[in-house]
Amino acid sequence: MKYGYDKKLLKSLSVGPFLGQVKLREKMIAEADDSIPTSIYNANILAKKLHPNVQYAVIEAIEEHADAKSFKLVPDKEKGTEELAYFRAGQYVSIALDIGEARLNKPYTIRSCPKDALNGSYTVTVKRNAKGFASDYILDNWQVGTKVKLSGPLGEFYHQELRDAKQVVALAGGSGITPFYSMAAAIADGTEDFTLTILYGSRTKASILLEDELDAVVKAAGGKVKVVHVLSEEEAEGCEKGFITAELIKKYAPEGDYSVYLCGPKAMYAFAKTELPKLGLKDRRIRKELPGEYGDPTGDAAYPKEAAGKEFALTVLIRGKEMTLSCRADQTLLDALEKAGVRAPSHCRSGECGWCHSRLVSGDVYIPEDTDGRRAADKKFGWVHPCCSYPLSDVTIDVPVIE
Ligand code: FES
Repeated sequence: MKYGYDKKLLKSLSVGPFLGQVKLREKMIAEADDSIPTSIYNANILAKKLHPNVQYAVIEAIEEHADAKSFKLVPDKEKGTEELAYFRAGQYVSIALDIGEARLNKPYTIRSCPKDALNGSYTVTVKRNAKGFASDYILDNWQVGTKVKLSGPLGEFYHQELRDAKQVVALAGGSGITPFYSMAAAIADGTEDFTLTILYGSRTKASILLEDELDAVVKAAGGKVKVVHVLSEEEAEGCEKGFITAELIKKYAPEGDYSVYLCGPKAMYAFAKTELPKLGLKDRRIRKELPGEYGDPTGDAAYPKEAAGKEFALTVLIRGKEMTLSCRADQTLLDALEKAGVRAPSHCRSGECGWCHSRLVSGDVYIPEDTDGRRAADKKFGWVHPCCSYPLSDVTIDVPVIE
C-alpha cells in the first residue's frame, strides 16, 4: 500500500529514544516491588466523597416547632465521618433506625441548603404523623448527642437545568415543604439559579411548618422566591382558602414556560392527578417527589379482593440464612421483614430507588401501579421491590445485600 506522506520528515526524526524503551521497561519491571500498586484515581476519591454508602453523624442542636422538630446533624468524627457529603437542594438521606425489635431505614429530606453541608451540617425536619411509627420514635427519643447512621444524599428531586424550566411552581403539603425550603435557601444564597413560587397547603395558619423561616428566605431571595399559603380549614389574611387546584396554580404561575414540582401527603398526589392535566403542561414539566409508603392497598380497584384480611407465610433468603415469617395482606414484604428484626436494604420506600430489589422465588404479590418503578428486565426475570409489594399467597424472596 502506498501512503502519500513526506518520508523526508520521518527520516529527520531520531528513533533512538524509542528503541531504548523496551530495555528500559524490562529493567523497571525487574527492579519493581512484587506488591500490587494501590494508587486511587482522583475521580474515585471524589465519587466516594460525593456518594458515600454510609455516613455517621451526631445531633448537635434541636429546634422545636408546633408539631415537628428540626435536628442539626454534624459529622461523627469518632465513627470516622470527617465531613458530610455535598448534596443538591431537594435530596434526601435514608436514616437507619432500631425501634424495639424492628430494624429499618427511613428517608428524610435534607432541609438545610447545600452550602451548610460544606460548613459541616445537615438539618432534617421531622413532623409528627398519626401513622408515623419512625417519626414518632425520632421525635420522642432523639436528643442532643444522639448518634445517627445515614446514607449519602439520594434522590432525583432537584432542579435539573437540562430537563426543567427556569421557573418552577412548587406544590407543597405538610412536611412536604422541606425540599422546597432547601431549594429556596439555595436560590437565596446563589447556589441555584431559578425562580420558585411555592403554593403551600396547610390545614390552619397555626399548623404551617417553618413559616418564619420561609418568610426570612423569601426576603433574602430578592424576588426569586414567593410563598402563597393555602389553608383548607380556615380563612386568614393574606392566605388562600381551600385546596391547591389547577385554577389556583394558574393564578400564581409565572408568564411563559414553567415546571411544576409536587411534594406532600398521599392524598395530595391523588388530588393532583385530576388537577395537573388541566394545566396542559408537557409530562417532563411535572416532577413529583417520592410519595413515601403506599399504605393499605386493599381498597385499590385493581386489588384482588379475595386476598384482603389474610395473612401469608413469607420465606426469606438473606445473608446466607433462610427464615419464615408472617406478612399480612395489607403489609409490604419490607415492613414484615423489618418488624421481625431483619435489616433489609431500603432507601426510598416508594418503589423508585431500586435499593430493596429482590428476587421473587415463588408466590404472588400485588404491586400498586403508581409504585411500580421496576425496569422491564426486572419484571421479566421476576424481581420485585419489597417496599411496595404485598403478598397475595405464601411467598419466598431472595434479598441480595450490599453492606
Ligand atoms: S426502597 Fe427504594 S425501591 Fe424499595
